[in-house]
Amino acid sequence: MKGEMKNILVTGALGQIGSELTMALRERYGAENVVAADIREIPDSEVVQSGPFYYVDVTQRASLDVIIRKHKIDTIFHMAAILSATGEKNPQKCWEVNVGGTLNVLNAAVDYKLTRVIIPSSIAAFGPDTPKENTPNDTILRPTTMYGITKVVGERLGDYYVLKYGVDVRGLRYPGIISAETLPGGGTTDYAVEVFYKAIEEGRYTFFVRPDTRLPMMYMPDCIKATIQLAEADFSRLKHHCDFNVGSMSFSAGELAEEIKKHIPNFEYDFKPDYRQEIADSWPRSVDDSVAREEWGWQPEWDLARMTKDMLKKLRKRYEEGNLYKGRK
Ligand code: NAD
Ligand code: SER
Repeated sequence: MKGEMKNILVTGALGQIGSELTMALRERYGAENVVAADIREIPDSEVVQSGPFYYVDVTQRASLDVIIRKHKIDTIFHMAAILSATGEKNPQKCWEVNVGGTLNVLNAAVDYKLTRVIIPSSIAAFGPDTPKENTPNDTILRPTTMYGITKVVGERLGDYYVLKYGVDVRGLRYPGIISAETLPGGGTTDYAVEVFYKAIEEGRYTFFVRPDTRLPMMYMPDCIKATIQLAEADFSRLKHHCDFNVGSMSFSAGELAEEIKKHIPNFEYDFKPDYRQEIADSWPRSVDDSVAREEWGWQPEWDLARMTKDMLKKLRKRYEEGNLYKGRK
């Protein structure tokens, strides 16, 4: 460790990952010491109810500064972003939030001498020229989406701030994240979450990608584990900083459908690829995460079969309670 994490800010805290990360950090570091922030406000959410919550627009530096000063923030988990599918609809906004927001967080880290900043990247940092199977950690980064471009910029900026200003910045390239708490926010891998909700609610689902679309994926408990484990890793062991591949499972849309069918035999599905197919086709099919394993001990725990069983159990319970979408779609 380079320094202690005592007062933590999570940006984008109401998002798919931020919402569960905030709760995990509050459990570990104390609810009052983990400040959640987002541009949306969901008053009845667990995140808003269980600890400090503020409106913070990461594209507005002053908005960040107020909270950093007020709560003596020393660590930021920067989860605010525009994801791949939404980013292709509004590339300008994607750049402003993902690059502008990241620069604001990094500059605040310099000005307030923060202990640590965690900035996630994505498999979207890779592109069609990258080797698709077992994609190495250090390889060709030529993404063809605005989202992917902003993720490469974020990785490079983070590494630059480590070198130039001595800020402790860390980041990992998440695969598609699957979770049962908060719906995903406009990504290409959203089908791997939506299918579970629709299988339970309607017994059928139309995938927006082809059945042979194979992408790296990860279940939320592994995502949270990886994020906190990297944040708590010994800085002196890290040779990389902002660009760790993290693998867990890799499956095609067709295989996911068949796995769900094992639990819901009447489940019906078909495939109608849309503009997101091209994005999915530009990403790796599996990643080599040996660098993360070596430098900070990464070890995933969940596979397709266990994740599917757990997702269906959690969502079925909520469906039976009349609360599948926790009050909102
Ligand atoms: P999400 O879309 O679910 O949540 C992002 C949150 O950021 C939202 O709550 C949104 O309201 C907020 N936000 C948007 N603009 C903002 C602004 N200007 N200021 C403050 N908040 C703003 O995203 P997520 O899935 O939770 O992703 C978190 C991070 O992980 C992102 O960096 C994303 O690129 C990365 N990531 C996610 C996945 C995935 O599958 N979920 C995969 C790879 C990488
Ligand atoms: N799940 C994310 C997306 O599809 C990958 O970064 O945008």
